[in-house]
Amino acid sequence: MSNKHVVWHDHRITKEERAKLKYQKPCILWFTGLSGSGKSTIANAVEAKLHEMGKHTYLLDGDNIRHGLNKDLGFSDTDRVENIRRIGEVAKLFVDSGLIVLTAFISPFQSDRDSVRNLVEEGEFIEIFIDTPLKVCEQRDPKGLYKKARAGEIPHFTGISSPYEPPVKPEIYIKNDKIPLEICVERIIDYLQTNDYLN
Ligand code: PPS
Repeated sequence: MSNKHVVWHDHRITKEERAKLKYQKPCILWFTGLSGSGKSTIANAVEAKLHEMGKHTYLLDGDNIRHGLNKDLGFSDTDRVENIRRIGEVAKLFVDSGLIVLTAFISPFQSDRDSVRNLVEEGEFIEIFIDTPLKVCEQRDPKGLYKKARAGEIPHFTGISSPYEPPVKPEIYIKNDKIPLEICVERIIDYLQTNDYLN
């Protein structure tokens, strides 16, 4: 609920001025995909590459945020909506600080991803769909969660008993069942270079 007695303050130093010091255009690299699709692995590798290039980044990751900021939230539809809303607001603050933000959340609902897109300025939200078929994610099952979900031990599990809405028009599409990690990273870095985010 917003409060009419709380007034917005503009800062003396702008986002553009902060970013200029870093030779980069702030943005959110929003990775979305099923559990086990490779979001975190790819986001980590992209962050490492950007860091190596002298870029200032910050990675917000599903499991970590759910241990702190969002530890009061579960996996019902309502909680997932709130999860993504809070992450969107945090990512916006990081963008305002001049950073390239990477986020790795399932973020299963198109409307939530669109809400984050609408929270920031044009060009600041880059949706990256890590499209790994459910069958492959289930075979990988790095945390053993699919097995538990199939056994009915985890309710509302994405792809099994809770929906995943694939992005309609992502800026970057990665079919991640055969492509090597380095190629995925290269494609994302290429996108950023071609669209002038890194100078
Ligand atoms: S969401 O849908 O965006 O709110 O989910 P997210 O914050 O990214 O959290 C996903 C990670 O939580 C673990 N986990 C589950 N995922 C999906 N469904 C259910 N029910 C569930 N319960 C726990 C799982 O490890 C997810 O991590 P990733 O990295 O995606 O595998």
